[in-house]
Amino acid sequence: MSLVFQNVRKAYNGTEALKGVSFTAEKGQVTVLLGPNGAGKTTLLNIAVGLLKPDWGEVLIDGINVWESSRKAKQMIGFVSDSPPLYESLTGLEWLELTANLWGIPLKEKKEDLERLQEILELEALPSLTSTFSAGMKRKLNIMGALIHDPQVLIVDEVTSSLDPKGIASFERILRGMKEDGVTIFITTHILQVAEVIADKVVLIDEGKILFQGGVKELREEGKRLEDLMFTLTGGPKTEKIIEYLEKR
Ligand SMILES: Nc1ncnc2c1ncn2[C@@H]1O[C@H](COP(=O)(O)OP(=O)(O)O)[C@@H](O)[C@H]1O
Ligand SMILES: [Mg+2]
Repeated sequence: MSLVFQNVRKAYNGTEALKGVSFTAEKGQVTVLLGPNGAGKTTLLNIAVGLLKPDWGEVLIDGINVWESSRKAKQMIGFVSDSPPLYESLTGLEWLELTANLWGIPLKEKKEDLERLQEILELEALPSLTSTFSAGMKRKLNIMGALIHDPQVLIVDEVTSSLDPKGIASFERILRGMKEDGVTIFITTHILQVAEVIADKVVLIDEGKILFQGGVKELREEGKRLEDLMFTLTGGPKTEKIIEYLEKR
């Protein structure tokens, strides 16, 4: 199912963070929202998942208005937030059980899926308290939690956040599998090369405005016109390591 943004606007205390954003993330594709810090990516994602009300415009999933029918919309969405809500007094497994229960799904039914994800993500620490988890382990747990209700739309903020190159490659493998299953994937990043590796479609945003939308190849051509901005979106040595790892596979 497609995720459609129609003229979305949002201001905080009179300052516009989104200035009329329109585009579509298609089913079975990875759409990457690319932009520097402060571009408005997280604001747009929070609106897309029904956590934040747009001042103007709307977001539709398969024709359903996300704000007005938020319960229905939320059932279709998996959301990996950049600031995940984990209860530190629970173990990873208990947190997954809580998450499954909130969706009304018995954890038993999800056992095989979760074991497969745990293996791909190499999250052996699931039975330990989440307070003992590293940032990367918390991120992996959050990914597992976001997939527990088999969402048809997966939304991920800062896709490489907290993960090492191997973790990013594992996540990428999961995303590719979901894409093949026809899931609509919509993710953000502030790193140009990450978008280049994974995107079917790139939406370039800065200061709340879309500057470009299209394929990766066209983005490279357009890149010359947007040289200054593209420079800020090019990562340092850490990014090079990530890209090298992704491209070797
Ligand atoms: N809760 C908030 N209150 C006030 N300003 C905010 C709030 N959230 C974000 N902003 C501002 O909106 C703009 C876009 O922020 P954000 O959506 O977080 O960008 P990104 O995720 O691309 O870094 C920034 O200027 C930021 O300071
Ligand atoms: Mg953000």
